[in-house]
Amino acid sequence: MATEESSLPTEASSAASVIDQIVDVTARTAPDIRQGLPTRRKYVEGENPSGERPMEADVFADDLLLERIGDIAGVGEYASEEREEVIGVGAGLSVCVDPLDGSSNLKPNNTMGTIVSVYDAPLPATGDDIVAAAYVLYGATTTMITARDGTVTEYVVHPDGTYDAVREDLTLPEDPTVYGFGGRVPDWVDSFEAYVREIESDDSMKLRYGGSMIGDVNQVLTYGGVFGYPTLKGTPEGKLRVQFEGYPVGHIVETAGGYSSDGEKSLMDVEKDELHARTPVYVGNESLVEPIEAHLADD
Ligand code: AHG
Ligand code: MN
Ligand code: MN
Ligand code: MN
Repeated sequence: MATEESSLPTEASSAASVIDQIVDVTARTAPDIRQGLPTRRKYVEGENPSGERPMEADVFADDLLLERIGDIAGVGEYASEEREEVIGVGAGLSVCVDPLDGSSNLKPNNTMGTIVSVYDAPLPATGDDIVAAAYVLYGATTTMITARDGTVTEYVVHPDGTYDAVREDLTLPEDPTVYGFGGRVPDWVDSFEAYVREIESDDSMKLRYGGSMIGDVNQVLTYGGVFGYPTLKGTPEGKLRVQFEGYPVGHIVETAGGYSSDGEKSLMDVEKDELHARTPVYVGNESLVEPIEAHLADD
């Protein structure tokens, strides 16, 4: 009998199993991060690469994720919003993490998230190199959204770190109802403010802004709408980081049939001159996001 060719794992199957492990570790770490939040509400000394003061909770979440994701065979690099440099952890896929998104919401006990994105190229990878993205939402319950293999799935994450799919092949609802934009209104450029006034004139649209990108994006995925952290008069590149927030959320929303933009093009096409570069972010239903590009083009 002919011996079966030993089916060596192909590149693809081994990458898929590494992505499975990254998703699994992210879910299993979520309850540990959640449990560590209440006693880590102070700011630590020093600034992160974005010039912001991290909280103990940011550092705690980042250390836990580095330890666990870095331990996965097939993960080669780990980079974080909280760390200046990329860390080599072996050979294989690159992982970028925003360990705690919206950490300023810890004190008022509002939503926060963890964002993980996976790339098949060395960092600083581009949007074209992304192969998977996920976020955990620490809300009334803990949920996780993943975008991989062309589809978006929502899971409930249980206190023991197990997780169950609750929505599969998630797509943005056709009739959007929520909008939310960061930055101070007086700092919005005139053309963006004109766009927002148009949105507000539509009485089916409601303002929903919670101050954590993941909380606000999850509203858009659930109800349909638009979230943005726009270009601002003083800081044209806005506030959010393309590698740690723009690419993953752009990938998730586009995989869910929505649209992402930096004001001109897809977030996935944003080139960056350094790992912690910022970009304006607009994501949601195409019917709501595309007009932003038209308005800003008038500027
Ligand atoms: P992070 O906590 O990871 O630094 O991200 C905070 C970001 C993002 O979550 C949110 O959309 C935005 O900051 C809110 O900014 P404002 O506080 O200026 O509204
Ligand atoms: Mn931060
Ligand atoms: Mn963030
Ligand atoms: Mn963060």
